[in-house]
Amino acid sequence: MASKETPPKTTEQTGGPLILSEKQGSAQIITLNRPDKLNAINEQMAAELSAALDAAETDRDVLAVILQGNERAFCAGADLSGFSDAPADRYDNYRARYNLRKTRAVYRHVHNFTKPVISAVEGFCLGGGLELALFGDFIVAGEAAQFALPEARHSLIPGAGGTQNLPRRIGPALAKELMWTARRISAAEAKEIRLVNHVVAKGGALDKAKAIVGEMEASGPLAIMMIKQAVNRGTEMPVALGFYQESDLAQLLAFSEDRQEGVKAFAEKRKPKFKGQ
Ligand code: COA
Repeated sequence: MASKETPPKTTEQTGGPLILSEKQGSAQIITLNRPDKLNAINEQMAAELSAALDAAETDRDVLAVILQGNERAFCAGADLSGFSDAPADRYDNYRARYNLRKTRAVYRHVHNFTKPVISAVEGFCLGGGLELALFGDFIVAGEAAQFALPEARHSLIPGAGGTQNLPRRIGPALAKELMWTARRISAAEAKEIRLVNHVVAKGGALDKAKAIVGEMEASGPLAIMMIKQAVNRGTEMPVALGFYQESDLAQLLAFSEDRQEGVKAFAEKRKPKFKGQ
């Protein structure tokens, strides 16, 4: 007689959590946890992701955040089942797009995050999933990862920063081609066009990301923060102003204990002990 096994409950049925967050060494590993929907981002997941980021931001022991999904999907994008706005709701929809929806706010949250955010990508990284990774600082990928912004196939545009961030990462001509055709590219091609920093064996993206965070541990956490500010703001301003703000940020660091410790340790031929202050 065939046994009647009960199918595992979906994340919808269990109510979540849709985000798991765990500290490993100095990295906060934030895992998108909606596997039955390929980690498509809905309001609940976005709210939980923002909360996890908040916790990591103020935790002094966290040097960097690593975002990951699972082997099948980093994230297949925004939850398309939420795209049924009634025409009568245009007034609210417009405002929701800017502020109210958690699925909007979470992208800005990643953009404004003061610590490094590395995306460790395996499997599908599509639409809003790729846009999330693009708001982070860089991507490392398992060799079976696939990337695309396929929104035009649904007569949508990449509306979570993709039309802005992708051209800045890979150049406008290639970005437009990828968005117009919705073509899915391999990890190897993504590396070739500098969409990802590293490609490793399938299943190895998290370890690679953790190894990079491990290398950062010898650097001053305040310097890491200021470098992120200098680069992110600098790429948005004329280079002459960029040089000024670089000087200002360097000067801010000059008031820190860590900078004094860094220089002193070098003179004393020992490893510095940074406190993040
Ligand atoms: N929003 C909501 N649900 C999604 C989703 C999304 N963006 N992407 C996948 N899912 C769901 C599917 O509906 C399916 O749910 P079901 O089992 O309840 O029907 C489940 O995830 C598994 O996806 P499925 O399509 O069955 O897997 P597949 O291996 O055949 O195809 C993809 C994988 C990624 C090619 C396909 O799911 C897809 O094209 N997803 C949409 C990607 C996209 O356009 N993203 C941009 C959104 S703006």
